[in-house]
Amino acid sequence: MVKFPNSFLWGGAIAANQAEGAYLTAGKGLSTSDVLPHGIFGSLIERTPNESFIKDIAIDFYHQYKTDIALFAEMGFTCLRTSIAWSRIFPLGDELTANEEGLAFYDSLFDEMAKYNIQPVITLSHYEMPYHLVTQYGGWGNRKTIEFFERYARTVFERYKDKVKLWLTFNEINMSLHAPMTGVGLPENSSPSAVYQAIHHQLVASARVTKACHDIIPDAKIGNMLLGGLVYPLTCKPDDVWETLTENRKWLFFGDVQCRGQYPGYMLRYFKDQQINITITEEDKRDLQHTVDFISFSYYMTGCVTADKDEYEKKRGNILSMVPNPHLESSEWGWQIDPKGIRTLLNLLWDRYQKPLFIVENGLGAIDEITPEGEIIDDYRIQYINDHLVQIHEAIQDGVDIMGYTSWGPIDIVSASKAEMSKRYGFIYVDRDNQGNGSLERKRKKSFYWYQSIIKSQGELL
Ligand code: BG6
Repeated sequence: MVKFPNSFLWGGAIAANQAEGAYLTAGKGLSTSDVLPHGIFGSLIERTPNESFIKDIAIDFYHQYKTDIALFAEMGFTCLRTSIAWSRIFPLGDELTANEEGLAFYDSLFDEMAKYNIQPVITLSHYEMPYHLVTQYGGWGNRKTIEFFERYARTVFERYKDKVKLWLTFNEINMSLHAPMTGVGLPENSSPSAVYQAIHHQLVASARVTKACHDIIPDAKIGNMLLGGLVYPLTCKPDDVWETLTENRKWLFFGDVQCRGQYPGYMLRYFKDQQINITITEEDKRDLQHTVDFISFSYYMTGCVTADKDEYEKKRGNILSMVPNPHLESSEWGWQIDPKGIRTLLNLLWDRYQKPLFIVENGLGAIDEITPEGEIIDDYRIQYINDHLVQIHEAIQDGVDIMGYTSWGPIDIVSASKAEMSKRYGFIYVDRDNQGNGSLERKRKKSFYWYQSIIKSQGELL
């Protein structure tokens, strides 16, 4: 295998609410993630002081980050993607002054990364916002949230301008269509108009902070973050092909606005046909013109689409209700494994936008067993990542500009969909189970040494 370019960044990606724990430490406020303790598709709960949940401690990254970063450095990471918990910086979200203890935590975290030359890639909002903004203002449904978010973003840009040069706005911004409380702080039964209005506010906020980032840190780059939900037609029937284009546009719409600076015509027609009414002001239109520098995305699987509704009801599976592809195997969680799909997706995004791409999530959630000798032989994970990296390399040969690759959960963390510990993605095992039992001890898996060798050889050993 020919080497990856020298500029290619290698690393892993985690998120504050799935790794840090310390959910009320050092002035942190409650976030939407804290009131969704059973995952992004779970129900919202009122928190009481006596109850505790898995994410409250997560893997205790808040206290153990030095150990973890040393392990990432041992693997040879040149970057680490994580998020800032907005509710550590502005516990309620609408304060005028930031929480110094929260800011100091991320200072120490970024300083620790710098010791090992690990470049931070920082998501401003990864599946959480201060819960107070939901109860008092109605989340992103309220235009005022744009202002609160901009204040938060400007605060962290100013504070970390010398330490962080790669930023992402909203994690998987298109997930708001499927998990509105997590994405935009709206109840699950919100009307399509309410959801798209909230999404519009978030898109405006994303554009406004893109401009702020350019103003405050001229040598930084800021990208969006999409769930790369690529789907194929189940058959070559023209109706299936059209339905598939429509389905792909549901997520590409976000990229279109963030990369091209305006709403695409197909979306305006969709709004009209579906009687979705949203307010877009002239000022919003001007703001949206601040487009991102690069596109980052997650990729785990693909699925199929059919226009035949009976067939659809019979076969629907996967988290996003896609029809399973008869040609692909599935993970233990029913996610269909499609390495070639990442090459297709990279080419598609490059052809559409001609902006650099960054794969910021990819990996296999699986149950790991510890052998009597105390080892974790995760060949399935090695195979999955190897096959995807081979296809990424193909895409580079196709002429696609790719900035780097961060595998999801390089250390086991709490899963997002159902808040499980047993769905492990890591190269590093964490001793904790779904009930919260375990010592939190870290242990290198077989894949740890494999990923280390891939990074060291700059992909040559794939
Ligand atoms: C992405 C999210 O959807 O997928 C992550 O950005 C998430 O937060 C990851 O953890 C994998 O999903 P899960 O449910 O297996 O953790």
